[in-house]
Amino acid sequence: MDKTWQNLQKKVDCMMEQMKDKTPHVSFEGVYDDIHLDWWTSGFWGGILWILYDMTGEKKYRDAAWEWDERIEKCFVRENNLHHDVGFQFLPTAVIKYKLTGDKDARRRALMAANFLAGRFNIAGNFIRAWNQEKIGWSIIDSSMNLSILFWAAEEIGDPRFNHIAIAHAKTVVKHFIREDGSVKHIVNFDAQTGDYAEEIGGQGYGIGSAWSRGQAWALHGMANTYKYTGDEKFLTAAQRVAHFFLASLPEDHVPYWDFRVPDFEGEPRDTSAASCAASGLLEIAKHVPKEQSALYSKAAQKIIQSLTYKYATLDKPTYEGILLEATGHRPKGHNVNVSLIYGDYFYVECLAKLNGWENNIF
Ligand code: GLY
Repeated sequence: MDKTWQNLQKKVDCMMEQMKDKTPHVSFEGVYDDIHLDWWTSGFWGGILWILYDMTGEKKYRDAAWEWDERIEKCFVRENNLHHDVGFQFLPTAVIKYKLTGDKDARRRALMAANFLAGRFNIAGNFIRAWNQEKIGWSIIDSSMNLSILFWAAEEIGDPRFNHIAIAHAKTVVKHFIREDGSVKHIVNFDAQTGDYAEEIGGQGYGIGSAWSRGQAWALHGMANTYKYTGDEKFLTAAQRVAHFFLASLPEDHVPYWDFRVPDFEGEPRDTSAASCAASGLLEIAKHVPKEQSALYSKAAQKIIQSLTYKYATLDKPTYEGILLEATGHRPKGHNVNVSLIYGDYFYVECLAKLNGWENNIF
């Protein structure tokens, strides 16, 4: 293991000690909050612990990770706001727990989440519906990352229905979300009755036509995963197109601002969570492209991770809850700007684990 990994492990040990059973989402000035379990980010801390367990074999990580899928499952039997992001919640908890330990309850919970996600598919428009309430025709780029739970379920029970849904949604991403130049929309609104494309919505990005950096990262990593599960070249090409746009748009230190198309970057915040998720996705692309192309993606991932490690990480601050500084949650609403976010931390750990030989995968 390299030195950075060793420092990261010490850091996670401290966070474990301090955070106990908190469900972390946002860290303000070094203290993680304790968000409700149906919030979309509730699986990421468990995912960090499972990766540490898989990398080290140390029981303390397994013990700390063990109950996360059971806790989140309780949301299904009470009023909740679960939606398209159940993949984000059950892949880093139930699916990886089942893969690593064979726990049958974890398998049951993961399959339940996959069924729930499949039930959100709109067959007229070939998309997975985002969120709840009035947004019946909305689909978002974030869902690209949730498809992995459908691919997992299809393989686990030998039922291609889950693949059909995941592939249909992924084709919609290629057709309606990824623009000609490789940039990506956040939200597309479809007519929920006819399935026709209605409009783009700016969502968490600067606006219509902009390029919200975490949305680019969700697409890049999500399309690379989709290729891994399907072997269909169109998804690898899609991931590469988004990656090229992402890399060409980065500032000098390889860590993006929160949107690549903000008219004036002066005073605008970065988003380190977009950087870590994209870096991990770039390593996935590097695994699948022809050998002579691979270094382009793996070197780009390493540059991003190096910049995160030396400029934005808190590995030398053991008591600071939060691994990466300068993440941005929702800039247009002014929510969680310039903070640590648990998913930014998760993808940093995921990427660093991959760079240190981790062969398993969660997404
Ligand atoms: N999935 C919501 C976000 O990326 O902020």
